[in-house]
Order: sequence, then C-alpha cells, then structure tokens
Amino acid sequence: MEQQEFAARYGPWALIAGASEGTGASFARQLAEKGLNLILVARREGPLDGLAQELRAAHGIECVTASIDLSVEEATQQLLAAADGREVGLLILNAGADTNGSLFLDTEVANWDALIMRNVLTVTRALHAFAEPMRERGRGGLMVVGSGACYGGLPGINVYAATKAFDLVLSEALWAELEPHGVDVLSFVLGRTDTPAHRELMEARGIAIPDGLADPDEVARLGLERLPFGPVCNWGEADDEAKMSASSAADRRERIRRIAAISAAYAKA
Ligand SMILES: NC(=O)c1ccc[n+]([C@@H]2O[C@H](COP(=O)([O-])OP(=O)(O)OC[C@H]3O[C@@H](n4cnc5c(N)ncnc54)[C@H](OP(=O)(O)O)[C@@H]3O)[C@@H](O)[C@H]2O)c1
Repeated sequence: MEQQEFAARYGPWALIAGASEGTGASFARQLAEKGLNLILVARREGPLDGLAQELRAAHGIECVTASIDLSVEEATQQLLAAADGREVGLLILNAGADTNGSLFLDTEVANWDALIMRNVLTVTRALHAFAEPMRERGRGGLMVVGSGACYGGLPGINVYAATKAFDLVLSEALWAELEPHGVDVLSFVLGRTDTPAHRELMEARGIAIPDGLADPDEVARLGLERLPFGPVCNWGEADDEAKMSASSAADRRERIRRIAAISAAYAKA
C-alpha cells in the first residue's frame, strides 16, 4: 500500500502498546517512516523517550510517550488518557510475552492474574475503547500481536498460550464484525523472534539461542503489509498454508508431543 494511502487509512495517530524494543520499536520506526504520528507506551520511560526523540528528529512526526503498566486494572483508562482525544486510526497491541516462564503450579497464581490482565482484559478493553471511534469514522486498523502458542496448550507456556488463544479468537470475531465498517483487524501470529525479552528469557533458562529466529524489522514489515488481509497472519507461513490443524484431536495431541520439549524449556526448573 502506498504511504499516502496507508496514512489516510490508518492515520493520523497510531498507538503502540509495548513500543520500546523488539517488534514494538520496529513497528514504531516503520510507521514513523510512513508519516504517522505516534503514541508510544511501555513501562520504562528511558527507552520510550529515546525512541521518541529519534523518530521526531528523523521523520518530523509528532510523538508522545506514556509509561503504563498494561497488567494493572487501570491500564485502559491510562491508555485513553495518553491518547488524550487524539484521532487514533491504528492500535497495535504488541506487549504480551510470558515473563513468568514457569510450569503452572510452580509460581504464585497472582503472576498468572497479571498475565491474564495484560493479555486478556487490557486487550479486550483497549480494543473496545479504540475500535468504537474507528467504527464511527468508518476506517482504522487493530492489530493484536499473537503467538503460535495460541494453537493449543503447551507445558511451560500454559497460561500464556491460553491468553493468546483468547486473543486469536476475539480478533477473528472482531474482524468479521468490523469489516463492514471499514476497520481492519489482524491477529498477527509470531514464531520465535529475536527480541530482547525473548533473549533475556532464553538466557535465564539456559536455552541456547537457536538459529533462524525471526528479525523484528522483517516481522513488523510483514504485519503492516498484511493488516488489510485479516483475520490472521501466521509468521513464516503463506496465507493458504496450514501447518497445524486447530480442531483434530489427534493433530492436537501430536502437536503437543512434537513441540513440548521446546516449550517446557521456558519454564523455571
Ligand atoms: N519474541 C518472540 O519470540 C515471540 C514469539 C511469539 C510471539 N511473540 C509476541 O510478540 C510480542 C512482543 O514480544 P517480545 O518478545 O518483544 O516481548 P514483550 O515483553 O511482550 O514486548 C516488549 C515490549 O512490551 C513492553 N511491555 C511488556 N510488558 C509490559 C507491561 N506489563 N506493560 C507495558 N508494556 C509492557 C516492553 O517494555 P517495558 O519492559 O518497558 O514495559 C517492550 O516495549 C508479544 O505479544 C509476544 O507474545 C513474541
């Protein structure tokens, strides 16, 4: 899509939740190049401010930042306050990795609550809050960054996988509901990607950094390219390629057996 067309369809402002590094920062850089103004959200102010300064200087866009913890009850109100009435034509919900890295019973349930708050409740509430004005305007885009873990339960990434399944299913429904109103919805399902958060977790768990991790810039480029073609884009797969069946009982069992060793390595010993 041409730059001007993209800005007309998804501008003038994009809000990225989880913008300070990895795929979130790559989305920010690519959207700034397309001339969108940005609201950048994450918890740490330092990296957000640095990125905002870089993007203002490089692209002459407006860029505001907000330090918000998306795993708290008030997060969506704080996102709305950060947007402060600006016309947000694109919402990217990027933050979502599993910070617990634990077998289900081996951490406090409060840690699962926080993950569910960020990946389920804040996602639901933010989609509700930001989609409504898009529907009224008859244009806009909503992207929920997901994970291949969404396609079934896995040891070691248990609650994380469940939240990503929720996000997938909700995004698919919204895609169908909002398509007639000119609003694009994409569940962007990533594979293992070379982000700082992922590297940190692998290092903490003693997992050797594998070859072939996806590059965050390439991931962001594909996500923005596929935004008009929801409801789902699976990183590394052509649009019509089904590597995993979502409904066959035998296929689901086989899938868990095939990749359980990889997922379980993410859990604390
Ligand atoms: N990396 C992978 O291999 C991989 C694979 C499949 C799917 N994904 C998905 O891709 C997305 C990005 O993953 P990632 O690896 O870059 O890790 P991530 O921790 O989800 O994302 C990093 C960004 O989100 C922010 N963030 C994290 N928790 C937050 C919170 N509670 N409140 C506000 N901001 C928060 C981080 O900044 P602060 O720390 O400053 O808050 C940072 O800007 C996630 O949805 C993840 O599930 C990643």
